[in-house]
Amino acid sequence: MPGGAGLIPISVVTCEPEQEALVLQVLRSGKLTQGAMVERFEALCCEMTGARHAIAVNNGTTALVVALEALRLRPGDEVITSAFTFVATLNAILESGATARFADVDSDDFNMSPASLAPLVNERTRVVMPVHLYGQPADLDAITQIADRHDLAMIEDAAQAHGARYRDTPVGSTPGQATFSFYATKNLQSGEGGVVTTDDDALAERLRLLRNHGMRARYQYEIPGHNYRLTEVAAAIAIPQFDRLAKISSERASNADYFSTHLADLPGVVTPVTRPDRTHAWHQYTLRITKGCAVSRDELLLRLNEAGIGAGVYYPRAVYDYDCYRTHPRVLIGEGGAVAERVATEVISLPVHQHLTESDREFIVTAVRKAATPR
Ligand SMILES: Cc1ncc(COP(=O)(O)O)c(C=O)c1O
Repeated sequence: MPGGAGLIPISVVTCEPEQEALVLQVLRSGKLTQGAMVERFEALCCEMTGARHAIAVNNGTTALVVALEALRLRPGDEVITSAFTFVATLNAILESGATARFADVDSDDFNMSPASLAPLVNERTRVVMPVHLYGQPADLDAITQIADRHDLAMIEDAAQAHGARYRDTPVGSTPGQATFSFYATKNLQSGEGGVVTTDDDALAERLRLLRNHGMRARYQYEIPGHNYRLTEVAAAIAIPQFDRLAKISSERASNADYFSTHLADLPGVVTPVTRPDRTHAWHQYTLRITKGCAVSRDELLLRLNEAGIGAGVYYPRAVYDYDCYRTHPRVLIGEGGAVAERVATEVISLPVHQHLTESDREFIVTAVRKAATPR
């Protein structure tokens, strides 16, 4: 197990010989900024998702920002996202100049509840941004139906969901736009990196302009833009991993199955639900520690960390539940997300990555069972 004797980390970043070779090739080429490697990376993202276009950017947050900007939002326009997500989702909305609202989540899959979304839509709503949290796709059919009824754009935050499927269709290929992160600990990674996928030719063209100072040809600026370009080195780190994605996903799924089989009977410990029509990417394997458990979530976390297991809490609060957002004029909390606020106090993620050995899995199960029992 990489990561050191006695410690099972929540994520492991490896360096395979193919990655070293490709990075070295880039370094020796003298061409380090967006070029042929980035194009290869984009082609692989199209293959992964089935989308016609993939626009690589320097991280998953800028992918969200540029996807929002591509929609030409105006001040006052609202984006509805999930109340339970990583803060980047909310920061990207604010960075784009839009106003954020929050749909609550369902407690069994942690994803945006379509029933909670519907009543939030108003005349200022322009975009719905579901998040495929922990790697399980949100209910895209139900959410798309609501978006279509109100003529809203869709941006899927698929930062954690490489290779995940909804009714057998890979996420990132539904109408609208989807964004992925290639941050170092993601299922596919480039250190830092991101991509927007879309089938829409006009959006793709605008995304490419926005990524590179709004420049169509050298010093021909069509719109004010950014430098959101991905480096060739980052693309070279990611490229060799795509061939292994199916294996990475199935090993993560097998670890998740193992945990659920061996932990399901623990009182108060709720194992994660995979909806029958979804393929989970298992970026995180997340339990809920509810009142029936002999110990609190925080006590369980402490005990697991003491046992050398890098369990963690993703995320400790609803995304808006910080003073800097509660007082922000473009963060509209309204009724808030009561379920999101509760699950944030219950969740705990166990290491589920593809580098776990059989004995790591057994060790984790034994440690959770022991930690969840009164001392
Ligand atoms: C749900 C979600 N959205 C967006 C991001 C942002 O990606 P990045 O860290 O590459 O900027 C992340 C990354 O952790 C994420 O988990």
